[in-house]
Amino acid sequence: MNKRKSITGFSKFSKRKKLRWIVENFFKDPENVMRELMSFWHSSEEQQRVFDGFSENTISNYYLPYGVAPNFVINGKTYCIPMVIEESSVVAAASSGAKFWMNRGGFKAEVVDTQKIGQVHFSWSGNVKKLRSVFDELRAALEKDAEDITANMRKRGGGILDIELLDMTDKEKDYYQLKASFETCDSMGANFINSVLESFSATLRQFITTHPIFDDHEKDVIVIMSILSNYTPDCLVRVSVECPIKDLGTFPDGMDSTMFANKFYKAIKIAHIDPYRAATHNKGIFNGIDAVVLATANDFRAVEACGHTYAAKDGQYKSLSHCTIDNGVFKFWIDLPIALGTVGGLTNLHPIAKCSLELLGNPNAKELMMIIAATGLAQNFAAIKSLVTTGIQQGHMKMHLLNILNHLGATQAEEKEAVKYFDDKVVSFQAVREFIEKQRGDHSLKNGALVYKKTK
Ligand code: MEV
Repeated sequence: MNKRKSITGFSKFSKRKKLRWIVENFFKDPENVMRELMSFWHSSEEQQRVFDGFSENTISNYYLPYGVAPNFVINGKTYCIPMVIEESSVVAAASSGAKFWMNRGGFKAEVVDTQKIGQVHFSWSGNVKKLRSVFDELRAALEKDAEDITANMRKRGGGILDIELLDMTDKEKDYYQLKASFETCDSMGANFINSVLESFSATLRQFITTHPIFDDHEKDVIVIMSILSNYTPDCLVRVSVECPIKDLGTFPDGMDSTMFANKFYKAIKIAHIDPYRAATHNKGIFNGIDAVVLATANDFRAVEACGHTYAAKDGQYKSLSHCTIDNGVFKFWIDLPIALGTVGGLTNLHPIAKCSLELLGNPNAKELMMIIAATGLAQNFAAIKSLVTTGIQQGHMKMHLLNILNHLGATQAEEKEAVKYFDDKVVSFQAVREFIEKQRGDHSLKNGALVYKKTK
């Protein structure tokens, strides 16, 4: 059969027909792949329809582990935090960071502000002084025309907070912005903000083309686009931990608390100085943040984009976390802008997201901001703690050992032996393969092939 890589009308196919076309045109063993992908369909058709509804052209579901990190004490309340993450050691690290601080006062968290931002970008060659002179009138029209869209949000205590006119013509000829800020309460608010902005753009065009203050040659306004900004520096949460240095305890190889605190402080400083380190450092923070964002069906791309933009706000990409040592007190904190929802979006549609929210005690958006930032800080603390003491490979490779054993199809007995054997040895794929081969007394895994089916 001739394999085809392009097609028209694919989106109109039934799911089964889509899958059939995919397996027949892209795979060597279509029947097997078809069976494999269908084996991940949900056993309840109704539930599967819900998942399919989240996206387009769905042919199966993609599984990720759903874990929990207990013992998070945030503002005196204890949480068990749900995390969706495929990387070994992340949940273990978050749990260990949480446990460490549980006995030292826990995490202190506060939401500094919750403003979201949206922009109407437009091109106009009129007299900006005239536009400014009637801006109050324009603002009133913008708000009035959007009233139907904002009614519900206003009832919940949110809505449009402010609208500004920004003159950007020094950067680009004829370029202006309406920059608006919003309060979206417990919803992330992307749809709300985008709908309001599209209403703004219609009102702006109408206003400029009909207002008598503008001459004919000034009536030509081109709205380039209307869209929320995922950079929300004023939707900010601060989470910190602190304790006297002496209470930090002792660390492997006889490292005392003062040495630990100093090395930790330097590690954070390095992530403020060097963008190469900052990227890895912040990646570690987002290991924790993204995992909870995913578990609660929030928008992890938005959260990442915002966090990384904030990390570069001073003109250089830097650590999102900070550390001070003052008068014998070790303090470690994060300022994180993060836009989240606990209502709307997928939060109430995804069955596991619903579980996550219930597990967290059905927090509102502000509480979830604190929980997620605390998870990021715990994750960062655990990573830096490992890095400045034992190094991360010790813990990481122990967890990775299980993945390698899985990949090699190790039996439960082989797994047990391997964990014992590698307790004081360096784990590598090669070393584990050789160990399993030796156990089996053959060279069946020479090419990394899966020769034994794992029987658990
Ligand atoms: C690995 O996923 C994350 C770390 O590299 C973070 C860090 O280096 O701070 C351990």
